[in-house]
Amino acid sequence: MISNPISNGIVGEVNIPGDKSISHRSIIIPSISNGICEITNILKSDDVMHTLNAFRKMGVKIEENDKKIIIYGHGLNSLKKPEEDLYLGNSGTSARLLTGLLSSQKFDSILTGDKSLSKRPMERISEPLKKLNGKIETSNGTMPLFIKGSNLIANNIDLKIPSAQIKSGILLASLNATGQTKIIENKITRDHTETMLKSFGANIDIQIVENKKQLKITGQKELVSKNINVPNDLSSSAFFIVSALINKNSHIKLKNINNNPTRNGIVLALKKMGAKLVFSNERENNNEKICDIEVASSDLHGCELGPEFADLMIDEYPILSIAASFASSPSIFRGLKELRVKESDRLKLILTNLTNCGVKCKNENDDLIIYPSDKYHIKKNIIQTDFDHRIAMAFAVMGTKIGPLSINDSESISTSFPNFKNEINRLGGNIS
Ligand code: S3P
Repeated sequence: MISNPISNGIVGEVNIPGDKSISHRSIIIPSISNGICEITNILKSDDVMHTLNAFRKMGVKIEENDKKIIIYGHGLNSLKKPEEDLYLGNSGTSARLLTGLLSSQKFDSILTGDKSLSKRPMERISEPLKKLNGKIETSNGTMPLFIKGSNLIANNIDLKIPSAQIKSGILLASLNATGQTKIIENKITRDHTETMLKSFGANIDIQIVENKKQLKITGQKELVSKNINVPNDLSSSAFFIVSALINKNSHIKLKNINNNPTRNGIVLALKKMGAKLVFSNERENNNEKICDIEVASSDLHGCELGPEFADLMIDEYPILSIAASFASSPSIFRGLKELRVKESDRLKLILTNLTNCGVKCKNENDDLIIYPSDKYHIKKNIIQTDFDHRIAMAFAVMGTKIGPLSINDSESISTSFPNFKNEINRLGGNIS
């Protein structure tokens, strides 16, 4: 894919797809609840389809048409042993959440993934599950995962790594455990799992005590299904928001965007940098906050973000780094250790690709420092993505300013935003 520069900005109303995190949970939770769930606006991307296919392979009836997906759930113990390994493609969310859920089933299962997922750390989920009597074998800490279905017993778990995927895997495991599991989240991460479990009737108590989250969940209570309307994805919106901010004469509108306070660090960060963002029509749907956002080209300045931002916007640093490259002063983003274990080593790829684009930047410990300039001299116009969708989209946005940039392995974009290229071109982009 080649991202070419545009002389005028991007203009119009953007079609943003459904939220990826909520879409995964919209399949997993109804599949183990009782009743029929109609899901509208689900994200039909590769990652989410891997979750959906996994549940079909475990015997769940799932109907699909243009407008909705219908899941017929039959309770906590209704899943059937899959006849083959469950292949989860590139999806870390599917891997961590399913490991938790499957560790409490009456059958054994094997989870596999693509090249990138097979390199990602899995002991972060298998180790805490062992405290609940879970029996999971990793392959040297990675996939394939061999899960022996077991009777889980509640325990207390203190989460050391800030990760919604780990928390969610443990919550899903606890649903079938005997007794009350207590999870302490030292750093608060996205809360879609506990929010949806609560609305499906799980026996869950959530409290914030001294900036830590305490989740108490009592297992073996059956859940009752509800219909779900998935809001649009703020993480996917961020590529368009930054594209509009850095390109002159831009003016875009994004509707029905999920504005969950455990996820919206990117808008707080961009506002700190002077972005012209106007929020309107703020409301709630399925206990998730939603709003419309208007964005106009803005003169950005640099900013300093502490590590607390990383928990609120871990997926948005690639695109934030592009915004920082067009600010009038340097930026420092601190505490980005978790960026190293995403779909790629994102910290490394941000540095390599920005440097090749002529942007002065450096990494000190786990901090990223960017020194923007008025003019960039591209050193190498091939962007290495290591099949990471967010690196590909972030540097496609970079291309709209300083291109042409050739984005390697850009097919990864279909893991989260299959229509990205068409959509940006429809609004004035020039990606071929
Ligand atoms: C996700 C959680 C985050 C995020 C990922 C989606 C989720 O991962 O990076 O894209 O849906 O729970 P971690 O929880 O491991 O940080």
